[in-house]
Amino acid sequence: EGLMALDLNNYIASIPDYPEKGIIFRDISPLMADGEAYHQATDQIVQFAKDKGVQMIVGPEARGFIVGCPVAYELGVGFAPARKKGKLPRKTVKASYKLEYGESALYMHQDAVLPGQKVLVVDDLLATGGTIGATTDLVEQLGGEVVGCAFLIELSELHGRDKIKDYDILSLMKY
Ligand code: PRP
Ligand code: HPA
Repeated sequence: EGLMALDLNNYIASIPDYPEKGIIFRDISPLMADGEAYHQATDQIVQFAKDKGVQMIVGPEARGFIVGCPVAYELGVGFAPARKKGKLPRKTVKASYKLEYGESALYMHQDAVLPGQKVLVVDDLLATGGTIGATTDLVEQLGGEVVGCAFLIELSELHGRDKIKDYDILSLMKY
């Protein structure tokens, strides 16, 4: 681990007109591919979590796993996934959310979070906030206490943070 902090913005690829014309896609894969950048991003989220007494990390598929699992490992706590339909084999709770066209839903195992557990919810990117709103909803259906939400990237103009305004929010980069 170097003494100088890296500028994590240098590890985000910006792809114009993907997946549609007019969208600039922010791709985290160069960050994940660089051991030092991945470690630094993980450590910054771990520091955010440290004084909150976090007991469990929850993240939505698929990129929420990439961000959340090393944070859980570093803190020595568990990780529970929020998944799309038909992926979890046991009894689940469900939270629906709006997409640009139509609706989607995320699920968690009913015993994935225990009542009263302090949970940090993480994902790679906050856009409209639909995904993270559904994830915090699932944690609360299970009786967990959301003590914060952390992201690598926040797309500020989409105002996703309005959907999680009751929580302490960390975003490492803003576009
Ligand atoms: C992307 C991203 C976030 C979500 C953000 O995931 O990884 O989870 O969208 O958008 P929102 O704030 O508007 O909900 P995607 O649905 O593409 O799934 P993936 O991680 O499985 O690729
Ligand atoms: N990048 C990656 N994932 C996303 C984006 C983006 O710009 N917008 C919504 N999900």
